[in-house]
Amino acid sequence: MPPARRNFDGFLTEMTLAEKLGQLTMASANMATTGPMPGNRWDTEVRDGTVGNLFNVWRVEETAALQRIAVEESRLGIPLLFGFDVIHGHRTIFPIPLGEAAAFDPDLWERTAAAAAEEAALDGVNMTFAPMLDVTRDPRWGRISESAGEDPFVTAVFGRAKVRGFQGEDLADPSRVAATAKHYVAYGGVNAGREYAPVDASDRTLEEVFLPPFREALADGCAAVMPAFTDLAGIPMTAHRALIEGRLRLGWRWEGVVVSDYTAIPELILHGVAADRVEAAALALNAGVDLDMMGFAYLHGLPEALDRGLVTIETIDAAVLRVLRLKERLGLFDDPYARGGPRPEAPPANLVALSREAAAQSAVLLQNDGTLPLVRPRRVAVIGPIADDPAAVLGSWSAAGERTEARSYLAGLRAALPRSEVLHAEGVSCVGEETGGIGAAVALAREADVVVLCLGETADLSGEGGSRARPGLPGRQAELLAAVAAAGRPIVTVLTAGRPLIEAAVFERSNAVLMAWGPGTAGGDAIADVITGRAEPGGRLPVTWPETVGQIPIFFGQRPTGRPPEEGNRYTARYIDGPVTPRFSFGHGLSYATFRYGPPVLSVATLAPGETLEVTVDVENTSAFAGRTTVFLFTRDVVASLARPLLELRGFRSLALEPGSATTVRFTLAADDLAFLGDDLKPVFEPGRVEILAGPAADRAVLSVVTIELEPAVAPAPSPRAASAVA
Ligand code: NOJ
Repeated sequence: MPPARRNFDGFLTEMTLAEKLGQLTMASANMATTGPMPGNRWDTEVRDGTVGNLFNVWRVEETAALQRIAVEESRLGIPLLFGFDVIHGHRTIFPIPLGEAAAFDPDLWERTAAAAAEEAALDGVNMTFAPMLDVTRDPRWGRISESAGEDPFVTAVFGRAKVRGFQGEDLADPSRVAATAKHYVAYGGVNAGREYAPVDASDRTLEEVFLPPFREALADGCAAVMPAFTDLAGIPMTAHRALIEGRLRLGWRWEGVVVSDYTAIPELILHGVAADRVEAAALALNAGVDLDMMGFAYLHGLPEALDRGLVTIETIDAAVLRVLRLKERLGLFDDPYARGGPRPEAPPANLVALSREAAAQSAVLLQNDGTLPLVRPRRVAVIGPIADDPAAVLGSWSAAGERTEARSYLAGLRAALPRSEVLHAEGVSCVGEETGGIGAAVALAREADVVVLCLGETADLSGEGGSRARPGLPGRQAELLAAVAAAGRPIVTVLTAGRPLIEAAVFERSNAVLMAWGPGTAGGDAIADVITGRAEPGGRLPVTWPETVGQIPIFFGQRPTGRPPEEGNRYTARYIDGPVTPRFSFGHGLSYATFRYGPPVLSVATLAPGETLEVTVDVENTSAFAGRTTVFLFTRDVVASLARPLLELRGFRSLALEPGSATTVRFTLAADDLAFLGDDLKPVFEPGRVEILAGPAADRAVLSVVTIELEPAVAPAPSPRAASAVA
């Protein structure tokens, strides 16, 4: 039973305007990511009620001290929200979201979020600014690392699993935290992949691609939403009344809290839609933004906005009430200190084990000529700037993660290969121009049976502010690769990056390529597990891997063209100087085992509104190794009143199979799932032929196809009386 709702009328009557605006303010407590700092803790403002919420403060000593000031020393005693960017783990770090998406395992997604919530809550945090639900098809954009990739269906399933994991059944549970679906909406469409750049998306793309993951996460009870920094066709999302107040609250009947992004409210002035802080504050409040993160535009702008008649006190009160309700939902009025406890000396063993499992499940074996797994190598040369860099292994935005608590690849390989000689040379740094170390690295390579070349990006090269116009190997790493390859030893390249790296030489010169993403705290051990065959590379690409930068955006859900690409025919949808096909399709990923996928088998040959279809696919492990694979289910509406995408993802299943064993994977599709938005953007179900495709990747060459006929709704049978009247 949901707890009885408190009556907050008393608070609202008693609160001064400044105290109300304090409840609508969230200030950063200026803690460095390496630990607590005695910087500005906002003690005075918390005490006088003008700062009612904080973020970037964690560890119980800090949070409890501040909560005590709020609860015991402020006039009204309203507890604080403590927000934090728990993006892929709190102290124990799991793979970056794009990496974890590659596991295609909702149960894992939920378990890592629950573990992160528990660790964050132990550190006094009660709200996370995650999950990020920005669908994106642009590897230039640094924040692709924080996303679940290119597909709205995957992003929605990912988002729901994360919300369940963070929030659990009851937000008042002190081991759970409030989730924030961000960044609402279409941030993933930034122009040319440039951070914070303008966005222009059609209404159809908005409805079909960008909005659905948010709709589903909110329907599941996600507590908060953060609007994107960006505009959408000229309207900054922080001021987008139609999409916040209109869509979220009136349309979807969602009652949660909208928290602005960092200083996004005063940034409305730079967007060119507000003349001053007063107008900016009014625009955001009237659009439906409740919490002002670090902008102080509400605190300092709304009093004058009231005087100018730009806002009403009722709108302010409604926002305050939503914030109080969130605090109530979190149980803060019952026990403001329930979250927070003694920190263990080190990340707990069960969480480190989960980090190791998740990293192996997320690693994508992109290419392998049989060099992997390494079996009893005598001497291994571990080379490259990422080889012994535990911070890179943590990946971008690693919250309270500590590099000292993470394992590098070198450390992992040394532990996994106790009988081998494991040598190390850095060669070059990640981004520097110095090439003096290449000679020593090549000499080391010559002495080894096999080279494990650890290349890619340090954590700061992706994530927020990490857009790259040339998303290949940074610095002089390509030279290192060329020189080491010339030594003639087999090369296993381990890529660490927050995005698909577009660098042909990696694939041309390596015998095997393993995409590790930013694998997290136990990433070094997990990648060693995969390299030595103790674990299967469980990941499949959640994003198409382009061959060239010019192909961006390239994704499997493109619409057909009247002139499909045709080799040798200039007047078709192609490039005259390069391929149109990607380096790797969405879903690509090798295994040490091999699998056979049967064709999709349908439970019915026709489908009418209200009916459901069961699709089964037989999968067999045809090898002598135990292994994991992922089966994807797509549809294609062949002829419709408007062009439907070439493939639409409807389901996926990651499964483990013993050598020689087989299983049957089942998917259920409702006829409604095959409806689409018509030209008025309202759902329509159109009779006709639909292809059902199943297999290991979004590539027709590896998919089996069958068709089903969609039929019009069956007209209700005439009643007996009507029938006899006719007779
Ligand atoms: C800016 C980022 O866009 C957002 O994702 C994050 O939650 C806030 N800063 C707070 O750190």
